[in-house]
Amino acid sequence: MTSAKGSAARGSATPPQHHPRHGEVLLDVQGLVKHFPISQGVVFKRKVGAVQAVDGVSFQLRRGETLGVVGESGCGKSTLAKLLMRLETPTAGKALLEGRDIYSLGGNELRKLRRNVQMVMQDPYTSLNPRMTVGDIIGEPFEIHPDAAPRGDRRRRVQELLEVVGLNPEHVNRYPHQFSGGQRQRIGIARALALRPQIIVCDEPVSALDVSIQAQVINLLEQLQDEFGLSYIFIAHDLSVVRHIADRVAVMYLGKIVELGTESEIYERPTHPYTQALLSAVPVPDPRARNHREIIRLDGDVPSPANPPSGCHFRTRCWKAQEICAAQEPPLTIRPADPHPSACHFPELRHPVA
Ligand SMILES: Nc1ncnc2c1ncn2[C@@H]1O[C@H](COP(=O)(O)OP(=O)(O)OP(=O)(O)O)[C@@H](O)[C@H]1O
Ligand code: SF4
Ligand SMILES: [Mg+2]
Repeated sequence: MTSAKGSAARGSATPPQHHPRHGEVLLDVQGLVKHFPISQGVVFKRKVGAVQAVDGVSFQLRRGETLGVVGESGCGKSTLAKLLMRLETPTAGKALLEGRDIYSLGGNELRKLRRNVQMVMQDPYTSLNPRMTVGDIIGEPFEIHPDAAPRGDRRRRVQELLEVVGLNPEHVNRYPHQFSGGQRQRIGIARALALRPQIIVCDEPVSALDVSIQAQVINLLEQLQDEFGLSYIFIAHDLSVVRHIADRVAVMYLGKIVELGTESEIYERPTHPYTQALLSAVPVPDPRARNHREIIRLDGDVPSPANPPSGCHFRTRCWKAQEICAAQEPPLTIRPADPHPSACHFPELRHPVA
């Protein structure tokens, strides 16, 4: 898989690009929480608990940057994506887009937000309406936001978008089933691009695709980022996929970010035990490195987000856990000896692949 970004760019939080305000903070997420209530009773529903899907998540997304979000199934990645799309309302917290809290917006400002933040979904097989032509699918955002393109100009715009994502503009009248999986994901990307957003939230955009096709779609996303100055939040459970595209990476466990750093900080100098365990499970192509690899096996399953452990959520599976880990939640902070934030009472550099 080739990367359009140089390694220097991937190692820094602000990749060099041509956008005049490139690198400035675009989205500032502060303490985002989403608890889904658990109710009991048929007639008189009583709240008996809550699924703590997202539990105090904070990060910044810079203009032109790709922030990767990784973590096991159920750790809250898609809920975070839906919160950022305003498809879910947060229980607490803020997300400032260019300084304005997206949860306080209404009317025209909310419409503008909906144009500015778009999403690419995981499954190109189910996320496209099989009864609509590709032209109608890609042009649908113009029906919802008619001021984005004059009616007479829409077909040309749709064909232009097909070309931008590497599809034949003459196929505008075809239906989704006439395209391969990778081509369908390109259609999803074209639809996300139609309103010229600033941010695209990609929720497992290549997980359903073959490995060779994954590389093509990742390369396309990188090329479009350069061309249009896009910022991405790129969600995946596969660490190697995220490594290819992300400038910075947030590692999530049970609704929280446990480690946050540049691509090289997370992949080469991880300090949180959970990140180290995840990295130890990533396939290593180099046979010599594979021989030196240390496999870190985690005991037990991920606890239920309806009843997470006290203190550090990871403590029930952590080989380093001590009393303080049950009593106090470790904040996601930078320590003097530690160049990037890690939510652990005992952060320590350890790389499972020597
Ligand atoms: N609408 C909902 N009502 C109740 N619980 C929910 C709802 N949506 C998600 N959850 C729960 O919140 C937790 C986080 O789910 P989420 O889909 O965000 O995880 P994820 O990291 O995207 O997982 P995956 O990798 O499987 O896609 C899970 O326990 C899930 O069951
Ligand atoms: S805070 Fe304690 S339990 Fe949590 S990751 Fe660090 S050492 Fe392990
Ligand atoms: Mg998900």
